[in-house]
Amino acid sequence: MTESPMTDSPRISLRDVLAAGRRIAPYLRPTPLYRYPALDALTGARVWVKHENHQPVGAFKVRGGVNLIAQLSERDRERGVITASTGNHGQSVAYAARLFGVRATVCVPEGANPVKAESIRALGAEVVFHGADFDAAREHCEALAAEHGFRYIHSGNEPHLIAGVATYSLEILAEQSDIAAIVVPVGGGSGAAGACLAARAVDPGIEVIGVQAEAAPAAYLSWRSGDLVAAPNSTLAEGLATGTAFDLPQRIMREYLSDFVLVSDDALLDATRAMIEKTRNLVEPAGAAALAAVLTDPDRFAGRSVAIVCSGGNISPAQLAGLWPAAAG
Ligand SMILES: Cc1ncc(COP(=O)(O)O)c(C=O)c1O
Repeated sequence: MTESPMTDSPRISLRDVLAAGRRIAPYLRPTPLYRYPALDALTGARVWVKHENHQPVGAFKVRGGVNLIAQLSERDRERGVITASTGNHGQSVAYAARLFGVRATVCVPEGANPVKAESIRALGAEVVFHGADFDAAREHCEALAAEHGFRYIHSGNEPHLIAGVATYSLEILAEQSDIAAIVVPVGGGSGAAGACLAARAVDPGIEVIGVQAEAAPAAYLSWRSGDLVAAPNSTLAEGLATGTAFDLPQRIMREYLSDFVLVSDDALLDATRAMIEKTRNLVEPAGAAALAAVLTDPDRFAGRSVAIVCSGGNISPAQLAGLWPAAAG
């Protein structure tokens, strides 16, 4: 990784992404890329689903966590790591910390998805519940890091996380040569930044489209304005629920992202139901955001080969029951 002379922000190259792929390969298998005729019929596009919900922690983030923790210095391993998360990034850090014998602490909001919190704890990390939302948990985490001297792992401003998660996009493009667009759910933007790096290296003609929740649009507004801006954060899709934007993924998205769209929480719920019905996979609302974007603007994707990233499947029983209240009642 080299420093950019213009900005001090690290430049992540294809070489870094390839190295991340080699680094994570002993621990994480490539995930499936599947077509479902029923999804094609629903969307009018040729839809390839990248199944990051099949990762051992049920979300793409683990690629970044393994890539980062595998490269920690001896000193950082001894200090232990700390992070803040709504759940999936925390699972990623906990999973990787366990692999490499590093102590981990994960700060989550008080109302965190219980399935994710339980998994983080079962992986051996300490879970600290704090605050009403991700940003409150993040501020608490930063204070604990300073107080205890832990290595703080930011969920977006970490080149090794971005290089790690970029590997799913390389897998998509290595497996299917006719992909015209990759549609990626965005919270802080690490996944979309990774897709930008991979697509740019393979073929700059490939569109990368970010999707964020209308009810938590900080990254979207920042990308559109060119400044880092905060925004209200009330989406039900906790994987997308951040109220601030992160510098490093924003820089990468500004250079390459083709477009950025917003979807409503109702569209996220419709897409979650559709993903579960048409693919028979467990999908959390953030993991259905890419399908929501395709369903919201079908003309844009009609007849094209589109990869949609099913970024996570960690839906709680209560969320699942809420998707079909009549059936549950
Ligand atoms: C399932 C899921 N999808 C998408 C995202 C957004 O990822 P990023 O913060 O890299 O944009 C997350 C973040 O935690 C997630 O858990």
